[in-house]
Amino acid sequence: MRAHEAGALHGDLGSRGPAWLRTPEDVNELLPQLWPATVHRGPDGVVTVAGLSVEDLAREFGTPAYVFDEDDFRARCRAFHEAFGADVYYAGKAFLCRAVVRIIAEEGLCLDVCSGGELAVALAGGMPADRIGFHGNNKSTVELSAALDAGVGRIVLDSFDEIDRLTALAQARGVTPEVLIRVTVGVEAHTHEYIATAHEDQKFGFSLAGGAAQAAVDRVLSDGVLDLRGLHSHIGSQIFDTSGFELSARRLLRMHAPYRFPEMNLGGGFGIAYTTVDDPSTPGDLAKDLQKIVEDECGALGVPVPRLSIEPGRAIVGPAMFTLYEVGTVKDVDGIRTYVSVDGGMSDNVRTALYDANYSATLASRRSAATPILARVVGKHCEAGDVVVKDEFLPADVQPGDLLAVPGTGAYCRSMASNYNHVPRPPVVAVREGQARVIVRRETEEDLLALDVG
Ligand code: LLP
Repeated sequence: MRAHEAGALHGDLGSRGPAWLRTPEDVNELLPQLWPATVHRGPDGVVTVAGLSVEDLAREFGTPAYVFDEDDFRARCRAFHEAFGADVYYAGKAFLCRAVVRIIAEEGLCLDVCSGGELAVALAGGMPADRIGFHGNNKSTVELSAALDAGVGRIVLDSFDEIDRLTALAQARGVTPEVLIRVTVGVEAHTHEYIATAHEDQKFGFSLAGGAAQAAVDRVLSDGVLDLRGLHSHIGSQIFDTSGFELSARRLLRMHAPYRFPEMNLGGGFGIAYTTVDDPSTPGDLAKDLQKIVEDECGALGVPVPRLSIEPGRAIVGPAMFTLYEVGTVKDVDGIRTYVSVDGGMSDNVRTALYDANYSATLASRRSAATPILARVVGKHCEAGDVVVKDEFLPADVQPGDLLAVPGTGAYCRSMASNYNHVPRPPVVAVREGQARVIVRRETEEDLLALDVG
């Protein structure tokens, strides 16, 4: 996360908002880096996506709803695939459902899963098992067995217990699963501490500095049951600065050099734009930078370049979706700010509350000529921290019944959604070339009660 995202939710903002937030010249403008490619504001002022007006979508599917721009998502899959020319594992934790699995399979991508549930969705969506990578710091025997039985392509080893468990399961089945070893490279990624994963004090991976990574390689090679294809590192998420990836790749390659493994996985974590000041790299630039780092280091070490793979989640699905809400109440708190309450909240987007993340919002159902005012978009939950967008300029005439759209909600919003306050989770509506279809239906109160068997 950028430095501006570290600001506290309370206290330092005042009515002018945080220093990075600029008053927009035109509050109706949609900045391309924040929105799926087919989003525009039509001549009547209503926002459209894939040629469909958000008013029509709201009428047909209700609000809140996640709107998924299928062509935009496909274009991002292709951009990563073409730029890296390598195995791109879409990180399913960002957002996964069968329709998404089918699309990424069609686009030639592989899939990273990290639980039995994600594996089940991947298989149900028709992803060929050999294109699935299985992650997790505490995979259960049941999950490892399911991975072996399905014929999952890569299992990423994360602990000595797991090495022993998988070795025994593989021996019992007479199979030789292909594995990677997840290495903790000791990089302090510039992001929120909850989503940084390569510093030493960490539950993930085997420490490089402490010698555990070397011991893991030794154990797998000496057991001779698992087919060790190479090393893996994932330094964290929502990262803009390539220096962390560079350091990670160099450290990984130094460990890799004596073995000349055929592969190496550099993980995901590429940042996206949530606000006007975020300026992410393109897949092309990322690929160029990472490939050059790897080639230079391999040259210096005198070893061939291994087959590279990456695991982007957010950078593929994040910008391909937005959340559509209806405004319910507008409250001016004198001299402080305006609170705009929408019909969802921390149950459909917990990232603001959990990571202090910043988002943007726009009035989507009409154009407004009113002055921009600093607003906070909040949800309907019984909690003061139920904030969707901490700070955004919205037109002063924003009112109940207006539709608001919040971009960049494709990653880690539906996948981390909850039923807090027994608010049913919103649907995901896929749009493409003037057609809309529900790919994940809205939860109902009956769904909630169906689990409540007492
Ligand atoms: N590979 C591994 C091993 C991972 O653990 C992750 C994310 C990824 C790839 C994909 O990272 P991405 O490209 O999506 O940044 N819930 C947090 C993010 C947690 C990321 C967990 N691992 C958030 O909302 O920011």
